[in-house]
Amino acid sequence: MKSIYNHITLTGLIGLLSINVVLAQNEAPVQTQRSANAKITNLAPTPPMGWNSWNTFQTRIDEKLLRDMVDTYVSSGMRDAGYKYFTLDDGWMSMDRDQNGQLVADPKKFPSGMKAFADYVHSKGLKFGIYNCAGDKTCAGYPGTRGHEYEDARLYASWGVDLLKYDWCNTDSLNAREAYITMARALQATGRPILFSLCEWGNHQPWLWANGVGEIYRATGDITANFDKDKHMGTWTALSVLTIVDKQPAIRQYNGPNHWNDPDMLEVGNGMSFAEDKAHFTMWCMLSAPLVAGNDLRKMSAPTQSILTNKDVIAINQDALGIAAYRNSSENGLETWVKPLSNGSWAVCFLNRSDNAQNVAYNWAKNPLNDSFFKRTADFNAEVYRLRDVWGKTGAGTTKSVFTTAIPAHDVVLLLLKRR
Ligand code: GLA
Repeated sequence: MKSIYNHITLTGLIGLLSINVVLAQNEAPVQTQRSANAKITNLAPTPPMGWNSWNTFQTRIDEKLLRDMVDTYVSSGMRDAGYKYFTLDDGWMSMDRDQNGQLVADPKKFPSGMKAFADYVHSKGLKFGIYNCAGDKTCAGYPGTRGHEYEDARLYASWGVDLLKYDWCNTDSLNAREAYITMARALQATGRPILFSLCEWGNHQPWLWANGVGEIYRATGDITANFDKDKHMGTWTALSVLTIVDKQPAIRQYNGPNHWNDPDMLEVGNGMSFAEDKAHFTMWCMLSAPLVAGNDLRKMSAPTQSILTNKDVIAINQDALGIAAYRNSSENGLETWVKPLSNGSWAVCFLNRSDNAQNVAYNWAKNPLNDSFFKRTADFNAEVYRLRDVWGKTGAGTTKSVFTTAIPAHDVVLLLLKRR
């Protein structure tokens, strides 16, 4: 197939800092450098993990609430499980910029100021994330960054921001790729490593151009805490877990270290059943998705905590290869998803989408694994693998025998396959 390459080199204010973006149309983008500045490369070799205020609190955030959340982030074991970023979403600003055009943290919500809050987050060994938007206003109507990219980036750097989530509301006819590249340049010009999280909902196929611009890019619209039913919100539709899952196979080939497809933040602990939360979390891990919790950590139940902090499941998400799972089979609502892992290991997830329990009888000898895009195979007639039931925390035999189990509705069984 003929491919057209557009090679764009944008040089920032400082000579050292540049972004080289190689755009490939009709095929997977080439891995590109985030920056010539060594400090600002490799910010997300594995999918970033964190917490974000939006899914539970929307704009109802303030310093007191968030300090409590930071404390619970640590005491609940989230930090020790690998979550690192603490991100304020929309709603942290005053409605207007100050007389110098500078953004202001809402003094009622943040009486100590944003620098002090960022210091508090850092004092707990966490990284601090913040939100704004490429348009004139954010989605909730606060001042957007359009036309203020460099001054906003400098302000964030002065506060010690480590991540910027950059949304796409009120952008009129802005060109998405150019708008995100402009902000990436502004962030890099600060000299501070700031992970760049693009949030244009997949409208302009960021998987084709965001590699080298930012580390993660939303590939779909907003999630809602429902396993299989979308929620109509008037002018837009919030997507169920399964709707989002179904959009992933088509873009899995673009996923990889420092350029992660983002299927949106987690809704674990926000109202679905335990099985559904477990299935949702497992699929995000299988897809090598960023793991951004969005629940009220202060009220986290023990079952929710057991999902979000399961180190063996997280290890599958954080596997260094960074290859997203492919859908291997689908029959009557029962699917198998397969993720190649480092050292020749594999994760295999049986996902029961249906409303009834389903029996699995999986004959490994008749089902070799073959990731044709990433060129990895496992032939169980040639090699035997040990099976581990990851959620069950037990051995599950080897690939010499047929694997049998029953899976409740809306649940998963997750196996780790290791060579004997
Ligand atoms: C958009 C984003 C959400 C959230 C809100 C904030 O809808 O996709 O993740 O940031 O805006 O207003």
